[in-house]
Amino acid sequence: MRILNVANYDEMSQKAAELVIERIRRNPHISLGLATGGTPVGLYAQLVRDHQLNHTTYQHVTTFNLDEYLGLSSDDPNSYRYFMDKHLFDHIDIQKTNTYIPSGDFKNPEQQSKDYEDLLRSKGGVDLQILGIGSNGHIGFNEPGTPFQSETHIVELTPSTREANARFFNSLHEVPTHAITMGIGSIMRSKEILLLISGDQKRDALMQLLRGEITENFPASMLKTHPNVTIIADEAATGSHP
Ligand code: F6R
Repeated sequence: MRILNVANYDEMSQKAAELVIERIRRNPHISLGLATGGTPVGLYAQLVRDHQLNHTTYQHVTTFNLDEYLGLSSDDPNSYRYFMDKHLFDHIDIQKTNTYIPSGDFKNPEQQSKDYEDLLRSKGGVDLQILGIGSNGHIGFNEPGTPFQSETHIVELTPSTREANARFFNSLHEVPTHAITMGIGSIMRSKEILLLISGDQKRDALMQLLRGEITENFPASMLKTHPNVTIIADEAATGSHP
């Protein structure tokens, strides 16, 4: 794992955008794995800005999102489909038919999980996966205890994750209890991984990732076995000057 220390959230977003844009220019047919949450918002804003200024094209780019809440329709402002449209897809020239997000439909979630994994494989997998991290080490919605070999599956969200995400909802009560997520095994098949870590509330997680053992109790620790991971972490997360 390479670690790039930066001063703050804005610099993290800028450096991440530079890396993503370079990979798109090198391979215009790239397949990107995308995350939601607070961490990548600045990155997406930079990608939009670059698209407007420098006309980087997404015509041939395919995207796969990591996860989606179960029970929210795609037009619900808290769904991850809505989030991605608002922060990225509506502002670049990507073909919406090439943007894949697991379905949050409650009808047949097990089948949907299998279909998403099959889709990932049939499209050749993810070239560059963007990740954030939960303070308990989760990646995607893979909470502590998730088997490292897991593929796309349904999860029950832990109270700490629901509380952390309640800031986007009117109340904790409204935060869905379940989600569909790519598994750790699915994430590990990505050819390259870019992990973004910002803020002092992530400091312990970063420390554990760098110093701790590889254990299913800390899902992100599996990334240590991946051959091509870049971490961009800001000063608040590292606890030191870059
Ligand atoms: C979201 C996702 C999650 C977040 C993590 C950190 O698609 O996969 O693992 O990356 O919960 O969330 P933020 O960025 O809001 O701190």
